[in-house]
Amino acid sequence: MAKAKVKTTFFCQNCGTQYGKWQGQCNACKEWNTIAEEVLQKPEKSDWKTPTSPTKRVSKPLQIKDIDVSEEARLNSLDEEFNRVLGGGIVPGSLILLGGEPGIGKSTLLLQISLKLPYKTLYVSGEESQKQIKMRAVRINPENNNCYILTETKTQNIFKQIATLQPDIVIVDSIQTLHSDYIESSSGSISQIKECTTELIKFAKETATPVILIGHITKDGNIAGPKILEHMVDTVLQFEGDRNHVFRILRAHKNRFGSTHELGIYEMQGSGLREVSNPSEILISKKDEELSGNAIAATLEGMRPLMIEVQALVSTAVYGTPQRSATGFNAKRLNMLLAVLEKRAGFRLGAKDVFLNITGGITVDDPAIDLAVVAAILSSNEDVALQNDFCFAAEVGLSGEIRPVQRVGQRILEAEKLGFSTIFVSKYNKISLKNTAIKIQLISKIEDLVDLIV
Ligand code: TYD
Ligand code: MG
Repeated sequence: MAKAKVKTTFFCQNCGTQYGKWQGQCNACKEWNTIAEEVLQKPEKSDWKTPTSPTKRVSKPLQIKDIDVSEEARLNSLDEEFNRVLGGGIVPGSLILLGGEPGIGKSTLLLQISLKLPYKTLYVSGEESQKQIKMRAVRINPENNNCYILTETKTQNIFKQIATLQPDIVIVDSIQTLHSDYIESSSGSISQIKECTTELIKFAKETATPVILIGHITKDGNIAGPKILEHMVDTVLQFEGDRNHVFRILRAHKNRFGSTHELGIYEMQGSGLREVSNPSEILISKKDEELSGNAIAATLEGMRPLMIEVQALVSTAVYGTPQRSATGFNAKRLNMLLAVLEKRAGFRLGAKDVFLNITGGITVDDPAIDLAVVAAILSSNEDVALQNDFCFAAEVGLSGEIRPVQRVGQRILEAEKLGFSTIFVSKYNKISLKNTAIKIQLISKIEDLVDLIV
């Protein structure tokens, strides 16, 4: 009998588009030399069960009014930060993808959650041995009888174990190490990732078991593998932070069951990740003496107010071209604010080096931080320290106007709670708070700020 022809196809390794033959440039993402041949071999039907499994449910069209909306109870992970980012817990049958740079703590986070979960958990690792995981678990929390560790990379074997163990939740570290018998190409290739994810999704949806996947990210910060992976799953979480700092931030990039504005904050310790429930108190360094160049911003991350310290250093440029550098803040936005200060407030910053740093290794994209950035720059430029019980919450516009920000009341209350004496906000913000102990200083243009602080 003649040997069956090996079926191959071509995939763009960047975006996952499939082609019948090789070509130099991908039509979809326009990248060059990203199309590679992968061996496909699909006997019958790929399924997470054996082919003799009972017939699947057939979906029928329903009128909107007949659709059952009673929400299925979410599983509580007993980790406040994780629950919050997911929108209130793990939805049964959902597929969650957790991405992040190597060494940031993805495996630690999920192992820690598995050890805490009050449900039967299967932690599948294709990266570490059972001994390695045990060593890590001992550092975190040795007492748990609900968590099972499996070191396996073949999906068919994983499903076999799942069938005997019947776990309530499955965690896979990582999707790039899995491989399925139905596809011949190597683990981590586009077709393998797609196939393994499809099998896991099918399993999750049919048994209502949530599956959490760890995904590697490429050097440009995207989850390795096709963008398609992010479309396939229900929730994409990103674990980020500066490896030199202890803080780690968990964000949702996509969430079919909740908002993507929520943020979880952890601190990396010798015994795993600690949930930080009151981040403001840690992010502000307590200094006795007042130093120039420091200002505190009242920002909001998701629903949570967060007080963040901004530090600026303005000094005369030694070389011809002044340097501008920002850590944790958009460099283009810094240049814009400097131009506004130059044009609207008459500060000669064109020949100065400006360095800006958001402390704690956190990246902030709330525009309300603008006013604190400007205040820190002014303070450093004039070498006058701001009172350390001042804080700021407003956006700065191109004409030097101080613009209102959303949910200013919440920011004011947080500043008051932390003992600040004065908060600077835009005159155009509608403030309904009465009798606050904190002084609310309303300003409308950048010159007002200059008059008040320098
Ligand atoms: P890891 O979870 O292996 O990262 P990832 O899976 O994202 O690649 O964790 C990495 C780092 O965390 C590692 O460099 C050591 C550190 N760590 C601690 O500081 N404390 C701990 O209790 C643990 C388990 C790890
Ligand atoms: Mg890992």
